[in-house]
Amino acid sequence: MDNRLLQEIDLTQLPVHIAIIMDGNGRWAKKQGLSRIYGHQNGVTSIRDIVKFCAEIGVKYLTLYAFSTENWARPKHEVKKLMSLLEEYLVKELPTFIENNIRFKTIGLIDGLPPVVQDRIKENIERTTNNTGLTLNLALNYSGRSEISDSIRRIAVDVHNGSLRPEDIDESTISGYLFTSGMPDPDLLIRTSGEMRISNFLLWQISYTELWITDVLWPEFRREHLVDAIKAYQSRERRFGKV
Ligand code: IPE
Ligand code: IPE
Ligand code: MG
Repeated sequence: MDNRLLQEIDLTQLPVHIAIIMDGNGRWAKKQGLSRIYGHQNGVTSIRDIVKFCAEIGVKYLTLYAFSTENWARPKHEVKKLMSLLEEYLVKELPTFIENNIRFKTIGLIDGLPPVVQDRIKENIERTTNNTGLTLNLALNYSGRSEISDSIRRIAVDVHNGSLRPEDIDESTISGYLFTSGMPDPDLLIRTSGEMRISNFLLWQISYTELWITDVLWPEFRREHLVDAIKAYQSRERRFGKV
């Protein structure tokens, strides 16, 4: 590992949960006159570097926005390619997850993904379920609003069948019904490619998350950029509404 890089951050004060909106694959490809698909392929290299680095330095949770519910509206061939890249990634990375003590998880409406992808997801979750290092959480067919709708539906079912009383519903109840149940809220949210928006990501969970946005396009994002983000995070004072 690059020790000089590590000296720039305080490893005892790492964000426990880092979330990333991995944006800019298409623009990166376009810049070099290539198809958007090429950008997505190269985005996978960035994912590998960031996952490995987070596991090495001891980040506990990394949530990556890989495919939103709105992304289905992209051209058919792009969606198809994204799904096949995802399948390939899950097959190729499983040994790395096992070797590096990484626990694989997902958030999102997994039922809506192609069955082959669902099978790979199941396998990766099962084979890494006892790992205790980094939890890699991929957001797939995910949006914050669909997550909240889904959890409200399940809350309603439980109220209806008598296992939950309306007067007992508080913020922690709601957190417990979300896909991220059991995970702490993100401390740091990174977005690449410079857009100043949330794009329906983790709406409930980011109420007090620190934001860091960079113009770097996702296929060019590497551990040194993540170190910059962590450095910025460590220089901030989180007040949570207090003085
Ligand atoms: C992010 O890159 C990847 C996904 C949303 C799947 P984009 O494909 O959104 O790239 P830009 O934003 O068009 O450059
Ligand atoms: C957000 O990026 C979704 C993912 C990174 C998967 P988009 O490219 O879909 O978001 P918009 O269209 O810029 O809001
Ligand atoms: Mg985009």
